[in-house]
Amino acid sequence: MERKNVEIPAQDLARQRDFEERIREMFSARQVHPVACVDTFGCQQNVADGERLMGMLEACGFTFTQEPGQADLVILNTCAVREHAEQRVFGNLGMLTHTKKDNPDQVIVLCGCMAQEPRVSQRVKESYRHVDLVFGPQALWRFPELLYRVYEQRRRVFSVEEEDGSIAEGIPVVRERGVKAWVSVMYGCNNFCSYCIVPYVRGRERSRRPEAVVAEVRELVASGYKDITLLGQNVNSYNGGDGYDFADLLAEIDQIPGDYRIRFMSSHPKDATHKLFDTMARCTHVAKQLHLPVQSGSDRVLREMNRRYTRAQYLELVNYARSVMPGLVITSDIIIGFPGETEEEAMETVSLVDEVGYDALFTFIYSPRPGTKAAQMPDPVSRAEKQKWFDKLLEVQNARSAALHAAYVGKTVRVLCDGESDDADYPIAARTDGNRLVRLKGDASLIGRFVDVRITKSNTWALYGEPV
Ligand code: SAH
Ligand code: SF4
Ligand code: F3S
Repeated sequence: MERKNVEIPAQDLARQRDFEERIREMFSARQVHPVACVDTFGCQQNVADGERLMGMLEACGFTFTQEPGQADLVILNTCAVREHAEQRVFGNLGMLTHTKKDNPDQVIVLCGCMAQEPRVSQRVKESYRHVDLVFGPQALWRFPELLYRVYEQRRRVFSVEEEDGSIAEGIPVVRERGVKAWVSVMYGCNNFCSYCIVPYVRGRERSRRPEAVVAEVRELVASGYKDITLLGQNVNSYNGGDGYDFADLLAEIDQIPGDYRIRFMSSHPKDATHKLFDTMARCTHVAKQLHLPVQSGSDRVLREMNRRYTRAQYLELVNYARSVMPGLVITSDIIIGFPGETEEEAMETVSLVDEVGYDALFTFIYSPRPGTKAAQMPDPVSRAEKQKWFDKLLEVQNARSAALHAAYVGKTVRVLCDGESDDADYPIAARTDGNRLVRLKGDASLIGRFVDVRITKSNTWALYGEPV
């Protein structure tokens, strides 16, 4: 398939760098050392976007704080995937009226997926008049220009037009220090699962050039990152042009020499191929871990969700993946209580979960998103009833996770130490190849290193061990 070129021309990006310079000069003329607070909600793509927001702010002369009360500029980088996430953001926006009262020059920015919803931007325009700048994910690359307009013209700026989206290379980035890094390989989503808001707020699918992705990973490895996650709403629809697919990208990245791991998420089962699993099995740097969201174990519900695979097809994929990667760690996302789902159907999901034996699950109760197809479907089952099904699912999964974890006890596994844990007896946090959390005895000198660890105990959520 031909790869659609939607890259922003270099001169347009250079203009944004000019706006950064102008903002920096403006502060320096006023002898102000501006401070920003960037609060990111939602998935790893949003985290990756947050790192770019910080990169652009740093180029504008900002330093950073976690305290909105101490900031000259506050950004809420938001998520729209469930109602609860949105409520939290409106709560936070409400609280910012106080910080702005104390500091009337404070600039308040709402961006990310919520900002792209017309319902939300309208509400902010009318009822949250202390918010100065609102822009959606597709406008992220123009942030310096939008911010400049806020400072220059001292008026509210809204950039929320519907856009298919583009690709902007070379935006500055401030990464979290440590061993983990995020690399977006594609943006947007074309799948329109009937419950999901993401395709409406993140625009159409578009893939970065393979050379750009490989160069970024190479740079990250060279600067010491050891756990690199490739991101996309559906990495399996990555299109590098001329038939170059996600498996080809993985194989090419794997050639980069060094001591590091590659992970990726998310994988849509309808586009997961045997070629992908064969490639994973062959690559030495690719973690033997797969996040393959199933959502439901009922064929009728899967059809209503517009997922475009059946329970049997999903199980076949899992079996194949395990046949070429024994010990593969598999995780999934599940939605309970999709409109019209019956108890019997929910229990089909529970039985699928039991049959697959996931290492871990991300479980959600269905949340209606205005504008999606499912939000218009009759949804007669009460929240309390859905909660019961949900609890049943958790019970089955927790027992499974505990048993899987217990099986590690006595074994020696290789882990990457990635930070401190909150357990005084096991102060170091580490991850196995399969991304299982391990708490370790030892000291901070271990952080950033791969070590062999003997597992001594476990529970539902974590493993515990000592370096050997
Ligand atoms: N692109 C990813 C998912 C991104 S959203 C994928 O397809 O795997 C992450 C998860 O949120 C989804 O997998 C789904 O389980 C959940 N989710 C999405 N919309 C939801 C909704 N309306 N209610 C409840 N959960 C939802
Ligand atoms: Fe949402 Fe489906 Fe796209 Fe994932 S694949 S982002 S669940 S529409
Ligand atoms: Fe949320 Fe947007 Fe990610 S809706 S889950 S932050 S793509």
